[in-house]
Amino acid sequence: NGQLARLARAAGLEFFGTCVGEGNTNDQQYMSILRDLDEFDQIVPENGQKWDSLQPQRGRFDYSRGDIVANLARQNGQLLRCHTLTWHSQLPAWVRDGSWNRQTLTEVIETHIANVLRHYQGQCYHWDVVNEAADDNGNWRNSVFYRVLNSDFLPISFFAARRADPSTKLYVLPSPLSTLPSPLSSPLSSLPFPLSPFLSPFLSPPFFLLTPETTKLSTADNMNAKRYYNDYNLEYNDRKTDITVEMVNIIQRAGAPIDGVGFQGHLIVGSTPSRQQLATVLRRFTALGVEVAYTEVDIRHARMPPNQQALVTQGNDYANVLGSCLDVQGCIGFTVWGFTDKYSWIPSTFPGEGDALLYNSNFGKKPAWTSVSSLL
Ligand code: XIL
Repeated sequence: NGQLARLARAAGLEFFGTCVGEGNTNDQQYMSILRDLDEFDQIVPENGQKWDSLQPQRGRFDYSRGDIVANLARQNGQLLRCHTLTWHSQLPAWVRDGSWNRQTLTEVIETHIANVLRHYQGQCYHWDVVNEAADDNGNWRNSVFYRVLNSDFLPISFFAARRADPSTKLYVLPSPLSTLPSPLSSPLSSLPFPLSPFLSPFLSPPFFLLTPETTKLSTADNMNAKRYYNDYNLEYNDRKTDITVEMVNIIQRAGAPIDGVGFQGHLIVGSTPSRQQLATVLRRFTALGVEVAYTEVDIRHARMPPNQQALVTQGNDYANVLGSCLDVQGCIGFTVWGFTDKYSWIPSTFPGEGDALLYNSNFGKKPAWTSVSSLL
């Protein structure tokens, strides 16, 4: 019955996915839709990989909750997006309220990332390395990370992610060695393919370590996770978008490895930007040389319950968001933040709002589902 992922792949996306609430896995109806690879070929833990789950006390790592969805992905053959490392929210008090200086907080971040990435090594297609560093007015968010480290917590986090999960795949060059500049090691910029600068010290002929971009691999091939910055309300192309562009610049200027920017896509029926406006804002980031993806899409009704017209508008809004991704080269995937209105975070976080997803609470397909599938 499912087809969103199959169609999305045919349309050129790398995945069509959903988050999975760790508490939902006993619901048989839920699980039968979730497991359908034609519907969802990528999943992400809704809460289990957040800092308060993984390291509730300093030095005590607990992967039991984080592993629930990671194991599901492996059993079902789905890609796993991993979420999330450096984030002000769902951050245990020992980090949030600690009296840190630059050195001690850097150590805390690096230790967390090193342990967590090693635990999940080879399993994650993406890691959301930093989440929500901007506030709603387009300023730096006032978090413990920013107060102690200023913007440096961005490159610190991305460098730590690379150190803990480097690309380890060794390739023999497909082309004859004679076509390569000689000597092989000089200068790297003249090589006919992108070489990852951090690997250059390890180069010795006749082997090269190529960047993941050169060859399409599955995570099973031991490719590192792509490293993402992830945030919400980037869709409106305002001050928050501006500061996020600046953040990507800061990360890149520091020489830190960022592969992508995640647009969470927590949007509102009737005030979702147009397909063209959304494509324009996605391109602000692909122009910086990073890929983009929609990572947490839900489009909520501000007035409940929605009437038939509102459900149609919701479908159009979903089509605009997905359509913008199809329009932009470098927009590589689409993930919804849950698929059934039975289990959405919206009503508890935005009281009086809801019904933001593609299936209703009885697992019936909504007009939004039809709109998305017919766009694909
Ligand atoms: C939400 C979950 O859906 C809720 O269950 C939890 O109580 C709070 O977090 N941005 C993010 C996600 O990056 O991790 C958030 O998930 C939603 C907003």
